[in-house]
Amino acid sequence: MSNAMRFESRKAVVTGAASGIGRATAIRLAHEGAAVCCADIDADAAKATADTISSAGSKATSVRVDVADLTSCEAAIEEATHALGGIDVLANIAGILSPGHTLEKDPDDFVRTVAVNLTGTFYMCRAALPQLLDGGGVIVNLASAAALQGVPYNAAYCASKAGVVGLTRSLASEYSRRDVRVNCICPGGVATPMTAAGFPVDDIDVGLMARVAPQMPRIGQPEEIAALVAYIASDEAGYMTGSAITIDGGQLA
Ligand SMILES: NC(=O)c1ccc[n+]([C@@H]2O[C@H](COP(=O)([O-])OP(=O)(O)OC[C@H]3O[C@@H](n4cnc5c(N)ncnc54)[C@H](O)[C@@H]3O)[C@@H](O)[C@H]2O)c1
Repeated sequence: MSNAMRFESRKAVVTGAASGIGRATAIRLAHEGAAVCCADIDADAAKATADTISSAGSKATSVRVDVADLTSCEAAIEEATHALGGIDVLANIAGILSPGHTLEKDPDDFVRTVAVNLTGTFYMCRAALPQLLDGGGVIVNLASAAALQGVPYNAAYCASKAGVVGLTRSLASEYSRRDVRVNCICPGGVATPMTAAGFPVDDIDVGLMARVAPQMPRIGQPEEIAALVAYIASDEAGYMTGSAITIDGGQLA
């Protein structure tokens, strides 16, 4: 891991910080000097991430947020702003997966998946933008390779993540002259609790799933995604906005 201190005196809010990529990102940003607010619907696990960061000597706090609820997002941003003294970086990493055969899924699962992955990302951006516009800032959204390639048995997830790419590009354009950069990351498979259960859908066409495998003989690690979030959020990526960056072991190559 790099010893760079690219986030000294910066303040970052990371959603999904209780687990997986969000946890790794919160730790990475703190390691590089950021004060971090760990936000998640799982308040205890978010606090555990903040405690891990604090015991390593960096500043961290935690807040419970349900990103699918605008009032909850606004309250979390208010609490984070108060605790950190402002916000320079927002990493929207919270997300859910809802795999299954399209005709067998409860349509409510589609609505919930879009509510968390897409609407939740919008709510957090909307709530944090006044802080980011005050002195400049960066948003990094977690989309997915599934935003760019049809993944069978994942209609809601693919649709929600494609929406995140569109949202990212729109906000990047709108705020490009106001010192707020907005980008998203499109990972392939990453070893986190989200993927630990394998693919829990019966009667799938294995040949179709083979289309969405990485070409490298392994899946990614959360720390590899966190390193990309940190680069995009840093001043080194100062000319980057409106981008959707794949990091997928060659899945889409
Ligand atoms: N793991 C992968 O293979 C992979 C690939 C591409 C993209 N992603 C995306 O990366 C992000 C992180 O995924 P992960 O693999 O670390 O998963 P994860 O399940 O380990 O972590 C997701 C986190 O989001 C939180 N969360 C869920 N719903 C929430 C809500 N309504 N409000 C606030 N927090 C909520 C969970 O509590 C959890 O801590 C997700 O957006 C996911 O879609 C993951």
